[in-house]
Amino acid sequence: MKNSKIFEESKKYMPGGVNSPVRAYKGMPITPPIIKSGKGVIIKDENGKEYIDFVLAWGPMLLGHSDEDVVTTICETVQSAIAFGAPTELELLMGKFLCENLENIDMVRMVNSGTEATMSAVKLARGYTNKSKIIKFAGCYHGHFDGFLIEAGSGVLTEGIPGSLGVPKESIENTLIGVYNNGEQVRELFKTYGKDIAAIIIEPVAGNMGVIKAEENFMKTLRELCDEYGALLVFDEVMSGFRVAFKGAQTLFNVKPDLVTYAKIMGGGLPCGAYGGRREVMEQLSPMGGVYQAGTMSGNPVVMAAGLATLNKLKENPDLYTHIEKMGERLEKGMLEIAKEKNIPLVVNRQGGMMTMFFTNLKEVRCYDDVKTCNVEMFKKYFLHMLENGFNIPPSQFEALFLSVKHNEEHIDKFLETFRNFN
Ligand SMILES: Cc1ncc(COP(=O)(O)O)c(C=O)c1O
Repeated sequence: MKNSKIFEESKKYMPGGVNSPVRAYKGMPITPPIIKSGKGVIIKDENGKEYIDFVLAWGPMLLGHSDEDVVTTICETVQSAIAFGAPTELELLMGKFLCENLENIDMVRMVNSGTEATMSAVKLARGYTNKSKIIKFAGCYHGHFDGFLIEAGSGVLTEGIPGSLGVPKESIENTLIGVYNNGEQVRELFKTYGKDIAAIIIEPVAGNMGVIKAEENFMKTLRELCDEYGALLVFDEVMSGFRVAFKGAQTLFNVKPDLVTYAKIMGGGLPCGAYGGRREVMEQLSPMGGVYQAGTMSGNPVVMAAGLATLNKLKENPDLYTHIEKMGERLEKGMLEIAKEKNIPLVVNRQGGMMTMFFTNLKEVRCYDDVKTCNVEMFKKYFLHMLENGFNIPPSQFEALFLSVKHNEEHIDKFLETFRNFN
């Protein structure tokens, strides 16, 4: 079947024809390509059209699609281990890898998605501190847990709705909204609600309102406030983990989190997630402590194996990050030069292999209110032009574009040439 036929049929059986809203291209005058296969950075749709992929499954495919080592590992593992719902050595290997290679992770719990990781981390923080409120930042997305679906960025922002129906006010009344990169505003929140705040959760490099890096002083203020009031600092590294650096965004700041969440890259493209941190906090999890969190598929052997194959490859080849940085720099520099030539107002925010081109007249983009100044109509035109010419990029101004180790200069230069022809 061809793209449009599959999409029309899919709509009969799945709401909007998709299993995650952003894939539906809502707000775009076209239906999404239906992807059939991928190898390296090239993906192919059901019409046989090829695209150079800058979405990479929304981040996970840092090694490119169907990396040989990951494929081999998956094939070998499924011969004898698919799921047991019992402890396995592969879980130990993954747990040990994360604790030994990442910073500030004494213990870890495996889950199946980023949402599970963040909602469980927040529950743990509440259990540990015996407090109820959390602070999340406007424009940050931490998954579809009720308590996060307020000023949530990403798909929610693209759809132009403030949160979600079906979320009772009781579920969000303990969620306070912070302003990204504004430490004084967060200080005011603590002055008013400090004794009830269990945790701050933050994307240290935000990707879900487009890419925005937190500023060092702001992060220091968050740490100080958490220490002063007895709250935990949770870094959501679902997107930035293993991407902006092998050890994640943590390495960009001189600030220690209490808990960190991971997903995406750590599963090598299979459904995964994890949260970890300080031993005394993690020991509050059941069966050791009183915070209950469980999962039939958690620590699944195939996922652990695919994840370990990916993470080991990244650890053993630090030059892969140097390559991504070079490609990112080339793309960023090229986009800014072309935008200047063409008189297109553009701010590019990039951290390693994640970046966003903001079509705005502002000089810099530092928070959600800045993002909202973007010319969404211009973004739409740009997106359609790129897609038409064989570049798969996120269909939203409020998302990050991703690079993999398989992108090369030719891919980047073609991208730039195509942008040059945009009008
Ligand atoms: C920073 C961040 N946290 C959490 C999530 C939720 O992860 P998942 O979609 O795996 O539930 C995402 C998803 O994009 C994310 O970017």
